[in-house]
Amino acid sequence: MFGTKNISKAFGGAVALSDVSFSVEPGDIHCLAGENGSGKSTLIKIMSGVETADSGSIVLNGEEFRSLSPREAVAQGVQVIFQDFSLIPNLTVAENIALSTDVLERRKLVNPKRNREIAQNALDRMGVAMDLDATVQSIPVSSKQLVAIARALNQGVKILFMDEATTALTRKEIDHLFGIVNGLRDRGVATVFVSHKLDEVQEIAQRITILRNGSVTAEGNIKDFDRKAIATAMTGQEVNEVRLAPDVPADARTVLEVNSISSLGRFRDVSFSVKAGEVLGITGLLGSGRNEIAEALFGMTPIESGTVSVNGSPISINGPRSAVAAGIGYVPQDRLTQGLFLHQPIAKNVLAAAIEHFVGLLGFVKGKSIRKTVTNWIADLKIKTTDPQNPATSLSGGNQQRVVLAKWLAMSPSVLILNGPTVGVDIGSKRDILEIIRQKALDGMAVVIVSDDIPEIVQIANRVLIVHQGETGAEFDGAAIEETSLYKELAA
Ligand SMILES: Nc1ncnc2c1ncn2[C@@H]1O[C@H](COP(=O)(O)OP(=O)(O)OP(=O)(O)O)[C@@H](O)[C@H]1O
Ligand SMILES: [Mg+2]
Repeated sequence: MFGTKNISKAFGGAVALSDVSFSVEPGDIHCLAGENGSGKSTLIKIMSGVETADSGSIVLNGEEFRSLSPREAVAQGVQVIFQDFSLIPNLTVAENIALSTDVLERRKLVNPKRNREIAQNALDRMGVAMDLDATVQSIPVSSKQLVAIARALNQGVKILFMDEATTALTRKEIDHLFGIVNGLRDRGVATVFVSHKLDEVQEIAQRITILRNGSVTAEGNIKDFDRKAIATAMTGQEVNEVRLAPDVPADARTVLEVNSISSLGRFRDVSFSVKAGEVLGITGLLGSGRNEIAEALFGMTPIESGTVSVNGSPISINGPRSAVAAGIGYVPQDRLTQGLFLHQPIAKNVLAAAIEHFVGLLGFVKGKSIRKTVTNWIADLKIKTTDPQNPATSLSGGNQQRVVLAKWLAMSPSVLILNGPTVGVDIGSKRDILEIIRQKALDGMAVVIVSDDIPEIVQIANRVLIVHQGETGAEFDGAAIEETSLYKELAA
């Protein structure tokens, strides 16, 4: 058995876990669910020796530990795959997989031939073929994940934690991953999934443990929980999925006009327009070009031909600065590398894009209105923090995502492009965020949501555009926007 007994942990004054008991048997596939900041990552960090609990004990292979070092946890078979996979980008696939063996065996010299054998062996056990000599920075995200799993296998994994490690995978890649996880299960490896995409986890997990504010609120067979029951245990209230698409006034003016833009090897001949108060959804599989279109509108991917206008004036976008100047805001998907100054205070992050608004005519920063704005955004987006002066690193993953959102909303752009706005955000807060987007649209903002989260698109979009292999295809409008037809069109 693996798990915890009565674990409690606080950071400063903030309680992250309180009296948490949790257990996983060999061969279990377990879902660890909970809202942002409910303690999931903290629980994993304690079981893997990265954080020390204030009280309680850890159980690994049936043996009880008061505390343990990361090395002891690895020796007991604990492996964690984080969202960024913690690989070393400039080393090869083989080196990344084998690296730990060298470290564990305290070998000083790297032996490329031996590394390749070790790596090949681990990949074979997963039924995966891969170029061993490619550097990890050059391979796609799905392959990175496989490398991370191979490395875990190579280190004798008995319990594998995947902390939001499926976020960047396509449906096909997830199926492949689930195949591998089922293979691990057959050999007695336990896997614990942390994911906010509950539909996915429900397909593979047998057991579930749900945390709310650091305490276990429910556990059992996942069969006995439907989406609503899970949401209720997570939030403590009933969550209903209602349509939130704003009504667009008939005479609304066009704010964003994209006319036949192309970018070599990325997308071709893409045209669409968005009115004030309208929410346009753009969806497509990973690799379809949806990401690149979103990035191009913010000057992060070149546009080689075609035109873009905002409020009737043609603009040239040659970088984020010019996009911002033209009234375009952008919430990136990848909060970890693009969205935040992680070591800066939360407050500063919220205001990073809007700071000009607070500089008075004489150049004085209006301190009082800054503090008020920060407090308002923290309250509006329910950012869970004890002090806005704490660094962004002190926030849980989903709360970091909210800071990125607050930062752009605070700027009140004419057009807001949101790329995966609720990636990593729990079901209850997802609703809050969609409500805020709806409100901004009702206030007249033109909104573009680029997302592969179909239920979310259905909930909020007035119109949906599907991207296939770099080109826009079918368009859905109003009542025609529903899950089954969108999934069908995506798979086409
Ligand atoms: N190093 C830290 N310093 C201060 N507070 C922390 C630290 N790490 C975690 N916390 C706090 O502990 C609580 C639990 O955080 P944790 O990261 O475990 O949440 P989570 O369930 O993984 O959330 P998410 O779904 O957003 O990733 C949060 O309130 C968080 O702000
Ligand atoms: Mg987390």
